[in-house]
Parts: sequence; structure tokens; C-alpha cells
Amino acid sequence: MKYFLLSILSITASSVNSKTTTIFDVVVSDGGDSPEAADSQDYFATRAGAVPAPKDFDRIVGGEEIGPGDYPYLVQLGNSGGSLIAPDLVLSVAHAGNRANDQVHISVYETNTLSAGSQERYCEEWIAHPSFDDVNFFDLDFALCKLNKPVTIDRSRIRLVLNEDAAVPSGGEDLIIIGAGALREDGEDFPDIVQEVIVPEVNNTFCNQIDDVTDFSPPPIYLDVINENKLCAGFVEEGGKDSCQGDSGGPLIKRTVDSDGSIVDVLVGIVSYGRGCARPGFPGVYARTSAGVDWIKDTACNTLQSTASFCDNGAVAPPPEPCQGPELTYTVAIASDPQDVFTRLESGRRTIFFRRYLIADYVNEHKVCLEYDREYKFEIVGGGGCSGDGSLCGWFSLSIDGVTIFEGNGREYSFLESFTFQTLSAPAVSFTTTPTASATLPPTGFPTSVPTSVPTSVPTSVPTKTSKSTKSTKSSKKTSKSSV
Ligand code: ARG
Repeated sequence: MKYFLLSILSITASSVNSKTTTIFDVVVSDGGDSPEAADSQDYFATRAGAVPAPKDFDRIVGGEEIGPGDYPYLVQLGNSGGSLIAPDLVLSVAHAGNRANDQVHISVYETNTLSAGSQERYCEEWIAHPSFDDVNFFDLDFALCKLNKPVTIDRSRIRLVLNEDAAVPSGGEDLIIIGAGALREDGEDFPDIVQEVIVPEVNNTFCNQIDDVTDFSPPPIYLDVINENKLCAGFVEEGGKDSCQGDSGGPLIKRTVDSDGSIVDVLVGIVSYGRGCARPGFPGVYARTSAGVDWIKDTACNTLQSTASFCDNGAVAPPPEPCQGPELTYTVAIASDPQDVFTRLESGRRTIFFRRYLIADYVNEHKVCLEYDREYKFEIVGGGGCSGDGSLCGWFSLSIDGVTIFEGNGREYSFLESFTFQTLSAPAVSFTTTPTASATLPPTGFPTSVPTSVPTSVPTSVPTKTSKSTKSTKSSKKTSKSSV
């Protein structure tokens, strides 16, 4: 077999109480007891006068490194974070934009590198909350990403639960933020290991009255826009600890301990925005999980057909569809700068497969089911460079049904390459019964009545158009689906 290459162009512990729905790796809970709300006026008193300049903080901002396996549900996705809420579902923020086709890093510990049992998948489908940003700044900042293949994580030590109680958190209780985001405001400074930090809840009424219009141009991102769909957390007086750029979509949790001693992290919020990072006077703003939980469940179960146990829809992961046409396998090794790399396969003007990368020092393999007798264009952008120890350098290769059509190796430079290739015609149709004689005369007319009985013997001659129509049916099989 031969394929034609047409051209190469170049923690506060409390027990989780009632109202708990068990779902796959997520338990929907009301979050436990609610301590009394703090007096929001305290905060006002302390921030009278000018807003102090941001200090020189380091870390998530002001946090410390997590340990391997500490947060198995944490996800790194594009320049954002997320939480695995079912084997096939990541919850993130709408403001991250559509991340469909992005590589995602599950159980992330070391950023951009698979380690400590972390795994990679792709976002197959991305759905943002339909009312995102509708009324108030970054309102309902929720999005769901359905994974291309379900993933199993270790839940023996820690489980994540979705908070359903609008009154949780409250009273300035301690919450944990985790993320791979910037260590300081406006910094180019990103950590190698995921960071965690504890910040107190900040009362909504207070947060909604933070006047951020006097010092900055509108729109206000606090004043009168902190509605019941949002939640604030941070050290209003002293600042210094906060989420920051790149943490968006990641979890804000209230840590609780189950009766059996295992840890249950209640997902109360999702990192959304803030004025700068860790500035006194400006706490972080989070999408309030309880305000999105109905949409999350409805979309997960009814639109995305998630296998989440809270769905109760009997959905199981469909088995991979067998490829009826030629199958393309392409391998892309990425040593460094994975986020600068993408690959695309087009047919005509249609993109039929697209991947944006996140993991360095990793060899990706993709499989795409193609159609017979068609021209395709493959494109790869970026991918140069070698890993720090030189053990891996960027390269890629393509094969169809085991036959190599392009092989690159040891490319120690950035590349943009695109080339086209042509698939073979569909193989000829074979018959199980061999005709005993060839037709001597064409039919002289169409049948006028329906057959009254089933034929009892094998036809003795072959209709003349059979093989052609079979061939075209075969080549029109669905190709946009692929397994990776
Ligand atoms: N919007 C940022 C992101 O996309 C998150 C900023 C959080 N800021 C804060 N001060 N807590 O990553």
C-alpha cells in the first residue's frame, strides 16, 4: 500500500452533615454548619483612605507547595484551572474561553509535566453557562468540559463534593485555594509545583460595597456587582494571600472530615477574578458553586450525557467506534513550550481534528478515522526545542493503517509544517458466494409486483451496478469521530 504525500511545506474540620447526594467522586452536600456572619463594618473601617500599593509577595500569591497526591481532583487546563467533578467532566470558568480540543492535566502536582500519578486527557466538548456575564461583571462564571475519555483518580484520601447551600461559606471561615497560577500580580512568575493558600470568606454585603470606581476607571468589578452568584475571599486588611492570573477555574474549598476520618473537600467556589492579586482592600472573587449547581447537573446529565453518578441517567462511556475507513495515527513529541504547539487536520476547508497541548516532555499519540479517496492537510505549529536534560526533542510522525507517510525526528528547532496527502480508494467489495455464471442479458424492465415469498436459491447472475453503489456507501462513513 502506498499513500501519496502531495506536498511538504514547510482547613477547618467539621463533619459533613445531611443533604448529601452521593455521586461518582463527588458528593453534593450542604457544606455543614454555618457560623455567624462577621460584622462587615470592620472591614470598612480598616480600609478607609487610599488603597495601599501592592506589596512584593511571592507565591498562588502567598501560599506554599502542595504535596504529591494532595488534591487529586485538581485540573490544569490552558492557562486556567479546573476541578474533576466526574470521571468525564471538568468544571472551570466561562471566561477562559472555549477550551475544546485543549489538553488537560488531571491530578496536577508539577505544572505542565506528568508526575505523581497525574494524567492527561483532552476537552472534547466545552459548554459555558448561557447567562455568563449577562448582567453583572463575570456573573455566573461557569463552564463544563467533557473529556475525550473518562479518567479514574485516587479518591481514597480525599473526595470532592459540590456545595449546594447558598449560606455556605459564611462568617469569615477559612477556605483553601489551589492553583498553578502566577506567584505575584502581573508577574511572569509561575510555579513549578501547584500552590495552596488559606484565605477567609468575606461577607457578600461587604464585598458588594467595595468602591473600586474612585481609583480605577469603570466598570466596577466589586461595587454593586457582587451578587448572590459570587463569593469573596481574602485578607481584606493586609492582603498578601490570594489567587491570581492562571488560577481561574480552580477550586475554592472548605475542608471537612467525614465520619470515617477521610477528607471531604466541599467545592464552594471557583476562582473568577480580582483587582490585581493579594492587594489589601480587594479580595478575590469566586463563582459561587451553589448558584451554578442546578445548571452544572442539568448540563452534565442531559446535554453532555456524563457518566457522573449524580446523573442517574444510566449513561456509560460508549465503546470506541471502530474505524471503517483508513485510520491515521499521528505522534507528536513535545519536549518544551507545549502551549506553543498545536496540530490540525483539515479536509477541504473543514477542520476535522485539532489539538492544543499543555504537557511537556511527553509523546502524544492521536488516532483519527479518515475517509477513502480524499485529500487531507496536516499542520503542526511549534514543537521545537529539547528537554532540559536533552533526552527528548520535538518530533512528529504520521502513519495510515500502519504505513508511515511522514516521519520527522530530532527536530531541535521550532517548526511550522503543513503537507497534504491522499487516502486510497475503498477496497473492492468481496462476495461470499461466487457467481456461477456471468449475466448474459441486462434486465428489460422493473418488477411490477412485490415478491410473495423469500428466494429459495442463490442468484445465478450478478446485478451489474452492485459493486459501485457499495463502494460509495462505504466511503461516506462518519469521519469526524476519533479515538485518542
Ligand atoms: N481572572 C484570573 C484568571 O483568569 C483570576 C484572577 C484571580 N484574582 C484574584 N485577585 N483572586 O486566572
